[in-house]
Amino acid sequence: MTLSFKTCSSSSSSHSPCSNRSTPKSFSGDDSQFFHQKSYRAHTTTLFFILVSLSFFGFFSLYCSPNAISRAALFATTRQAKSGIVNYVINAQDSSHHQSIRRIRAEAVLWPGWEILVIVSPEEKVMPPLPGEDYTCFYPNGEKSTARFTAVLPFTNRTAFRCSLPGIYRHHHPIPTPILASSKSFQISPESRWPDLPLWNFVVFEAISTENDVVLFVKGPNRGLGSNKPPESFRCVFGEESDSAIRTAVTSSVQEVFRCPFPNETIDNPVKIYLETVATNKEATKTVPSVAYFSPKRRLSESREKSLLCATTMVYNVAKYLREWVMYHATIGIQRFIIYDNGSDDELNDVVELLRSERYDVTKVLWIWPKTQEAGFSHAAMYGKDSCTWMMYLDVDEFLFSPAWDKQSKPSDQMIKSLLPSDQSMIGQVSFKSLEFGPSNQTEHPRGGVTQGYTCRREEEQRHKSIVRLSAVEHSLYTAIHHFGLKGEYEWRVADTEEGVVNHYKYQAWPEFKAKFRRRVSAYVVDWTRVSNPKSRDRTPGLGFRPIEPKGWAQQFCEVRDLRLKRLTKKWFGYSEENGYRMAWQR
Ligand SMILES: *[C@@H]1O[C@H](CO)[C@@H](O)[C@H](O)[C@H]1NC(C)=O
Ligand SMILES: *[C@@H]1O[C@H](CO)[C@@H](O)[C@H](O)[C@H]1NC(C)=O
Ligand SMILES: *[C@@H]1O[C@H](CO)[C@@H](O)[C@H](O)[C@H]1NC(C)=O
Ligand SMILES: *[C@@H]1O[C@H](CO)[C@@H](O)[C@H](O)[C@H]1NC(C)=O
Repeated sequence: MTLSFKTCSSSSSSHSPCSNRSTPKSFSGDDSQFFHQKSYRAHTTTLFFILVSLSFFGFFSLYCSPNAISRAALFATTRQAKSGIVNYVINAQDSSHHQSIRRIRAEAVLWPGWEILVIVSPEEKVMPPLPGEDYTCFYPNGEKSTARFTAVLPFTNRTAFRCSLPGIYRHHHPIPTPILASSKSFQISPESRWPDLPLWNFVVFEAISTENDVVLFVKGPNRGLGSNKPPESFRCVFGEESDSAIRTAVTSSVQEVFRCPFPNETIDNPVKIYLETVATNKEATKTVPSVAYFSPKRRLSESREKSLLCATTMVYNVAKYLREWVMYHATIGIQRFIIYDNGSDDELNDVVELLRSERYDVTKVLWIWPKTQEAGFSHAAMYGKDSCTWMMYLDVDEFLFSPAWDKQSKPSDQMIKSLLPSDQSMIGQVSFKSLEFGPSNQTEHPRGGVTQGYTCRREEEQRHKSIVRLSAVEHSLYTAIHHFGLKGEYEWRVADTEEGVVNHYKYQAWPEFKAKFRRRVSAYVVDWTRVSNPKSRDRTPGLGFRPIEPKGWAQQFCEVRDLRLKRLTKKWFGYSEENGYRMAWQR
């Protein structure tokens, strides 16, 4: 199929208004660079005049801030007039394609790695593409990039794509939001608007409704420890300004979590939800851009009985371990598993399906947001609230057990419950110390699973992991990953290691460890190959920063032989076989 394109620009006299070319790629780099610098300068000048004429210096600091905040609002109108207008004109023989070309309403945000996450708006009902169906991102200068299907987001069922940001826009501020269309060629009308692309460091990325309020997950306004701004400085905005948005007060602002009551007005359809700062005498209102929607009040699941004990975990490509982790913990009393999947591309779905077919209650929640483990944990505390009394937060390489269970010939589903206080107690959270296991001479993933393969550990007890009573969690949903903040009337208990302990199979056989640490699901360590935070406890002692097997890896972190959980699980889950035994989770 040969298409020819015609590119027109009305932006500047020095730029030739129309040029024919065979593909948009032949657009000369220098040419467009010039165009962009020029138009950027034009914006800056316009902005300067707006600022001066308003004598409004509050805006100035805002403009200088690294966040692309309400420059959005200021630029929206000027950009429209100034930016290049591109017409992709399709050859006559291709006119049959015309019908299928369609602009799709979508939200977008710039992600790390110059990727744009483009999320189709709920009213569009775009399904994941079928083979041969193409979606494309179009940019104002005539460039385009393929929109790769990424996921269907949970709760709103919106289809998400990823587009690579063309190089020319990478040093451009603000960056225009591309137009998503359902074909490789597309006619962009002169009226097309190119709103500023929100950046991942300043955006409302997710929202969940509870019984009486809505929880927003927001990157940007609160940054770093102790920098939470007071709730009074924000408001939630339900809907677009043009459709008479409704505002409600923010009741909590901690970390990336903000909460607001529902509006009194009933909202029937999903609407975009924003966070905005309240104007002060120094600064005007600014709106945090958003890709999140408020869905009308969630109805409590009628059919599901409230489980006593649930577990949640955030995973990335750990399907291999999931079966052992679920089967073990289900047997000792976890009734429901909520797995936050950080975009795994391994056989996670198959493992989850298999477990479900075996009647394990496993729910997968896609959580694609980068570096948001705390936010994900807070989300889980709300998501699980109607169905779970207690929530255990453990990673899939962590296994809770009590040394006292050694005496039991059979496991029971009352075992974890026995480690928790009674319903009447005011203990809101119980934490267990963890023990870090080393590779224990293994050079590959042990066939019988981690509980069988890893038996040697470091002596020192490590950070704890917790089981929290969800009704006791502080309104702010504050979490430090290892535990939650509790409402004032509740106490927090740390169990001693005779009662209960977490075996953490942290330093596994080299191929496993390497894969895990490369794409670590941790909010603290940015990148284990980067020497940014070398003192963090998440760092591996003596490992350095390159994924090269350290000498004697298989023997490292081996100070204490600890066979307690191996024996327990072998007794409970092992079946004799000709050449030894086989574990229930082995397939
Ligand atoms: C999303 O899809 C699921 C499964 O198909 C469905 O149960 C749910 O109602 C849908 N949610 C929305 C908001 O459309
Ligand atoms: C909703 O209505 C109540 C009672 O009239 C009022 O006190 C409250 O401020 C209203 N809330 C909002 C968000 O408008
Ligand atoms: C999910 O994985 C990506 C890529 O490995 C990583 O950058 C991101 O931080 C992870 N997300 C969370 C919530 O940790
Ligand atoms: C690892 O192998 C060495 C040498 O064979 C042996 O002495 C040691 O006990 C083994 N350690 C474990 C944890 O199996």
